[in-house]
Amino acid sequence: MNKEEIARLRELMEFEARRTEPPIGFPVLPDIPGGRYTDPRFHQLEKEHIWRKSWLLASHIDEVPEPGCFRLWENAGQPVLIVHAQSGAVNAFYNTCSHRGAPIVTQAFGQRPRLVCKYHGWTYSHEGDLLAIRDPEDFRGLDFSCRGLKRIRCERFGNLIFVNFDENAPTLLEWLGSIADEWAEFQFDNCRLAARHSFDLNCNWKIAMEANTEVYHVRSIHPKTVSPILDDRRNVNTLYPNGHGRMVAPTPKGANHLRTVRLPSEINEIETVGEIARTCTQSYGIFPNWVSPLSHLSLPPLLFWPNGIDKCRLETWTLAPDWRDNPKPDMWTVNDGEELAQVLIEDTEFGQWIQKSVQSYGFKGVPLSYQEARIYHWNQAADRMIGIDNIPEELRVVQVIGDEWIHPNDPRLGQMAVLESCRKSA
Ligand code: FES
Ligand SMILES: [Fe+2]
Repeated sequence: MNKEEIARLRELMEFEARRTEPPIGFPVLPDIPGGRYTDPRFHQLEKEHIWRKSWLLASHIDEVPEPGCFRLWENAGQPVLIVHAQSGAVNAFYNTCSHRGAPIVTQAFGQRPRLVCKYHGWTYSHEGDLLAIRDPEDFRGLDFSCRGLKRIRCERFGNLIFVNFDENAPTLLEWLGSIADEWAEFQFDNCRLAARHSFDLNCNWKIAMEANTEVYHVRSIHPKTVSPILDDRRNVNTLYPNGHGRMVAPTPKGANHLRTVRLPSEINEIETVGEIARTCTQSYGIFPNWVSPLSHLSLPPLLFWPNGIDKCRLETWTLAPDWRDNPKPDMWTVNDGEELAQVLIEDTEFGQWIQKSVQSYGFKGVPLSYQEARIYHWNQAADRMIGIDNIPEELRVVQVIGDEWIHPNDPRLGQMAVLESCRKSA
């Protein structure tokens, strides 16, 4: 973030603190239909469209560090085989043999010079090409060139490995848009994977994720942990194309904003990280399921995966500069995944209660405040990805947040300038 951007963000924080109502022109947000958390039709639409067409964080190069290393990844409900090829490329395939559909691998991780199906021994290269079959004389006219493993789009952002099941999806960089540039300071190409754990939760995945997509809950849910170090009245939300979002909230004067950061004291920092991420809580939501507070000490994505309509899996990752001989940093768990850290216990403990409530006859919809606009923005993007006409009318959100509120547009800047000149002339 350059100096002008930092100054603008600081001014926006003061603008947010001073306003007595939402900014001029910001739309009233119609209720989010309650069925989006409970209706099997919506769950099915998410499966067919959101999980099928989005870029999903699947792995890190540390999990497949050398040629021949593979990882079996099934978090998105499809069997995906991620392979580090001889060429250095990382490829993804369906873990499905082109003969009779047997799995190519059944272990989570491993390393193999060739990918050999255990059922009848068909052998594939790391590029997915079919190299050899047993008893070829028994097949007539089998065309090897069209019997390779079926590829899945796979692209890297630094050391992170993303997959996308949609052949027509934009590139990962197009998908991230300007966020990819904003993230240059975090050096994702140098970060190592220090911790990756998962926890099953008894609520719809969006309920779990939304607890990490607004600061409105901070004073009630985190009175002792987050609240003292986060000035929620000065929080600045930014809405990006494709449903992504960012929050930046400063630290109250005198508070140590790293107080809740559970990291070893000897940790190396990411030197290129600028002032905002060092002094504020800066967190990104990457559509559909990644939330990450980024700082100079760690890059710890939280990922939310559906596990049925009323259950989900929370994955906690910690990425950090090489820790060498020091203890591995782990931002989100205690004792290497034994339990969630206090902040996440607070964020997740109501999940199952909320799930029960949203399933009740008494629950119809969700009125969101301006502070919770990132949730609404996410839902608008979800509907556009699903195709609005594909969604039953009673489950749609109304597309009220227009492009004028989507980064780099921001009507708050103009309003801020007007207020400033009024103040000066008063
Ligand atoms: S199913 Fe893989 S070789 Fe037959
Ligand atoms: Fe929270």
